[in-house]
Formats: sequence, structure tokens, C-alpha cells
Amino acid sequence: MIVLGIETSCDECAMAILQDGRKVLASVVASQLDVHRPYYGVVPELASRTHLQWILPIYREVLQKAEVSPAALTGVAATNRPGLLGALLVGFTFGKGLAYGLDIPFVAVDHVRAHLYAPHIERDIPYPYIGLLVSGGHTLLSIVRDFDDLEVIGSTIDDACGEAFDKVAKFYRLGYPGGVAIDRLARSGDPEAFSFPDPSLHKGEHRYDISYSGLKTAVINQLEQFRNPGHEMTLANIAASFQKAAIDFLLKRLFAAVEDFSISRVVVGGGVAANSYLRQSLSARKDLEVIFPSIELCTDNAIMVAGLGSELLKRGEQTPLSENAYARVPEFKRMYKSMKNNLQR
Ligand code: KG4
Ligand code: ZN
Repeated sequence: MIVLGIETSCDECAMAILQDGRKVLASVVASQLDVHRPYYGVVPELASRTHLQWILPIYREVLQKAEVSPAALTGVAATNRPGLLGALLVGFTFGKGLAYGLDIPFVAVDHVRAHLYAPHIERDIPYPYIGLLVSGGHTLLSIVRDFDDLEVIGSTIDDACGEAFDKVAKFYRLGYPGGVAIDRLARSGDPEAFSFPDPSLHKGEHRYDISYSGLKTAVINQLEQFRNPGHEMTLANIAASFQKAAIDFLLKRLFAAVEDFSISRVVVGGGVAANSYLRQSLSARKDLEVIFPSIELCTDNAIMVAGLGSELLKRGEQTPLSENAYARVPEFKRMYKSMKNNLQR
């Protein structure tokens, strides 16, 4: 089985070719960072237009790198949700056209599930485990009991974790993408310079939910109020204290789930999984089996799309070419909860 994966849900135009769901024959990730950097954030219209310009050259490049001809492809998988609609449509439509032209099976892939599936491409991971997905668009805590049995138990009620990093970095002009800039700057800062309050959202039905709006407001508008005596107001100190607070909030929710469900295996995915403080903090918990994908598989890529696509195709799933792309997954908590129904499109 040789599957081409296509990922264009945000600002990465990516394609990968995977053999038998595991062997990466080629992966190309063309980042639009330079296109969006002047705006300190992704401009949706520019993202779609850039994908349109890049998609064909990237298709040619990935085939060349993999040293396969189009006729050797046995399936196509493309992200169709969630993400920027215009951007999604470019890759999804390209994928459908290609599958139609080559007369091979096509499957739509959910970006969130692809992030959580990513570490499975690199190693065998037994079930169950607690899945923590932290990216620019999503913050999800879930119990994963099987390939198609994923129960979302917590999520953000406002900003996603990476989004909070991006907004703080944008405000202080720390660099773009924000998470990477803060991670780097935080290394020379003092994480104890400021003590930001934990969001009160951790009781009752919100036991595993998270909120970043309070932290964001504190870091942007109320810094002086949270400064610890004797600590300097430097950008590095702000970055280090914010990063510690943002990640510690998340870890508290995660550790509550670990205890409540008595599951000690944790799988982390998404762009923020590249964060060094998160990786160090989790690796320090020797009582847990913590699995991170390699950095290449944390941030947006098409290997994860080809990987999940291969798994779906192997199980006989196909998506009709009449299927559409969607910016959001409606009521995603319920949708991901009933993953089995969800798979039978
Ligand atoms: O998974 P991803 O590439 O795209 C989405 O699906 O959103 O995640 C991008 C997010 C951005 O918000 C970026 O700032 C954040 O991941 N990010 C990081 C780091 N590297 C990327 N956040 C914190 N620390 C990092 N090292
Ligand atoms: Zn992503």
C-alpha cells in the first residue's frame, strides 16, 4: 500500500508518501511562515492563495523524492477538517481530483485525529492511554481506548494552548511563530519572576477543562500585579513565567485524569508538544510512560495524514468524492466521543 497524504489545513502545504502505513518514502513540508510573519498570524486568504500556487510543485517534489510514479500510488488521503476552509479546500480538492484521475481509493482525514495518530507511525503503542493534543487550534484531553475509540474528556473553553503562546508573543513582539519564540526566549528567563493565577475552572463538569483567557489577560494587561518582589520585568522573565503557567495548568488537568482513570500511559501530540518545558516536565514523571512523537511529527505535516489515511483504507474505509471540507467539527466533544459512528460516513 503506497498512500499519498495531503495537509493544507493552515499555513503548511505538506505532502508525504507512506508505504504500508509506516515507512516514510518522502515528506515535504513547505511552510508559509515568511508569507504570514509580517502579520504575526496566519492570514486565511493569503494561506489559500499560497497553497494554490504551491500544491502542484509540491506534488511533483514529493513524487520525485519518493522515487515513485503516480501510477504506483494505491490511495490518497487528505485533511478535510478542521481548519481554514479556503486552505483545506485546496488540498482536499486536489486529493479528490488526483484519486479520481488515478482511479484509486480516497479517504478524508480529520486533522485532530491525525495529530493524535502521529506517534503510532513511529512505534507500537498499546491501548488505553491518555491523549493530550496541544496545537495552535486545539487543546484536547482524551481517553484513547482503541484506534477508533477516543473519548474527549476535556478541552479549552476559549483559546487553544498554542494560540495563547501566539497571542502573548504577538503582543510583546517576541517573534513568529509565537510558541517557538517563547520557548527559545524562556531559556534565559526566570520562571519564578511572575506568579500567574490558575484558572478556577477545574471543578465539577470542568475538572479536565482549561481556559487561557485569564492568563492571557494577566500577562498582557496586569503584569505588575503578578510580579514577585525582587524580580525584574524583562521579556525573558515574562516568557519563562508565562510558559511555566500555561504548561503547568495543562499538566494539572492531565495528572488529574491520570489518577482518576488509573491510566499511566500518556501520548502527546500537536505543535505545542515540541515545547521543551512540557517535554522536560513530563519526562521527569518517571511513574508515567510518556510518548512524544519526534518534533517533525508534532507540528503540521502530511506523514500523520498519510498514516491515519493508510489505517482507514486498510480497514476498508473510503470517502465519497462528493464529501466536503469543514472549518469546524460541530459539537466536537460529542462527535469525537462517538468516533465509531463518526467513522461510518
Ligand atoms: O500543530 P500545529 O503545527 O498546527 C495546528 O494544528 O495548530 O501547531 C502550531 C502551534 C502554534 O501555536 C505554535 O506557536 C505552537 O504550535 N508551537 C509551540 C512550539 N512549537 C510550535 N508552542 C510552544 N512551544 C514550542 N516549542
Ligand atoms: Zn495541526
